[in-house]
Amino acid sequence: MPDPFPSPPPLQWAQRSAAFALPPGVIYLDGAAKSPRLRHTLDAAHTLLEAEVNPRWLPYASFLRHLEATRALAADLLFEADVDGLALVPSAAHGVATAARNLPLQRGERVLVLDGQFPSNLLAWQQRCSEVGAQLAVVKPHEGESITVAVLRTLADTPRVAIAALPHCHWHDGQLLDLDAIAVAVQDRRAALVLDLSQSLGVLPVQLTRWRPDFIVSVGYKWLLGTSGLAWLWASPRWRCEGVPLEQHWGARDPGPDWVYPMEAAPPYLPGARRFDAGGVADPLRLAMTCGGLAQLGAWGLARVAAALGEVTAALDAALEARGLSAWKTEGHAPHLTGLRVPADRLDAVAAAFAERGIMCSRKPACLRVAPCLAVEAGQMEEVVEVAVNARF
Ligand SMILES: Cc1ncc(COP(=O)(O)O)c(C=O)c1O
Repeated sequence: MPDPFPSPPPLQWAQRSAAFALPPGVIYLDGAAKSPRLRHTLDAAHTLLEAEVNPRWLPYASFLRHLEATRALAADLLFEADVDGLALVPSAAHGVATAARNLPLQRGERVLVLDGQFPSNLLAWQQRCSEVGAQLAVVKPHEGESITVAVLRTLADTPRVAIAALPHCHWHDGQLLDLDAIAVAVQDRRAALVLDLSQSLGVLPVQLTRWRPDFIVSVGYKWLLGTSGLAWLWASPRWRCEGVPLEQHWGARDPGPDWVYPMEAAPPYLPGARRFDAGGVADPLRLAMTCGGLAQLGAWGLARVAAALGEVTAALDAALEARGLSAWKTEGHAPHLTGLRVPADRLDAVAAAFAERGIMCSRKPACLRVAPCLAVEAGQMEEVVEVAVNARF
């Protein structure tokens, strides 16, 4: 029987600028909010919706095969082929809540977070702290201090840090955290490490052996070129055995070939982190779009993607320097994400001028976030700077 899932072949590297469904003339610098849709996965999604009209279109065994194939694709590409470590969850917040429910935390202990960290990796810790009488330790970099140095300083100065909950780069302006150095310091304190890699996975590689995290979460609709409603949760070997999911969904259990859920006791969990698979996530449409994005990323190659996006942000920095506007740059940013730090009194004017020209990006408190997609050329950064400089305020 043919595979009922449409799986169009990935596009070549040379086709990348035409690969994304974007309005004509737009310079899309908002990949940190949402990746533009890949045209061919959009077509696959339409085909799938048509197929779904037939209620018998998808045998359950085919669905399960596709679910596991998607998990394996994500594991191979992003998590050192550790397929048993991955669960499908609806959001980064769901994954972080799973970590917060399982990791031990006592009265008087601390959970380390960054100042201004994305709320999906903050609210669950605030809640858990208030439940047990623990507190946050908030990392606030001094003027001119890197986030990494500030994290290491806060770790050194704060007693009883039990959990560090961090990203790989700041979601506002892409400032990088040196997770190699931070992980060592966290391990020295025997604290747990929880990483929200929603703004880096798909561009910056994960180092499971070096970082030894307890949990990693990431959404799928940004740098993984996928869709919302299907995020990834990676759990360390300990939590794959001991972890308790937030919900008890039948799909995370092994009911045997006869699909039996006895009254006396629940069937065993599925192996590995599958116990955290959340209900409602693995719907065929999301799986198809997730697979399409991952297969495309795999074909292009993470290193090549990072290098290409890095050329664009480097071109932005160079264009700023050429005009004597080095103060508008963000130091130590990731290849794919930076902040254009125009003076505070010009932020609104530059945002308005960008919107008028079709330069799409997000306004953050201290900058305009520049997060190019692969349809953007380095040569377009001259124009971006030109529009910013000439914005009337
Ligand atoms: C760092 C980071 N984490 C998580 C999310 C989204 O989280 P959730 O899936 O909980 O909505 C975003 C969205 O912008 C983000 O920037």
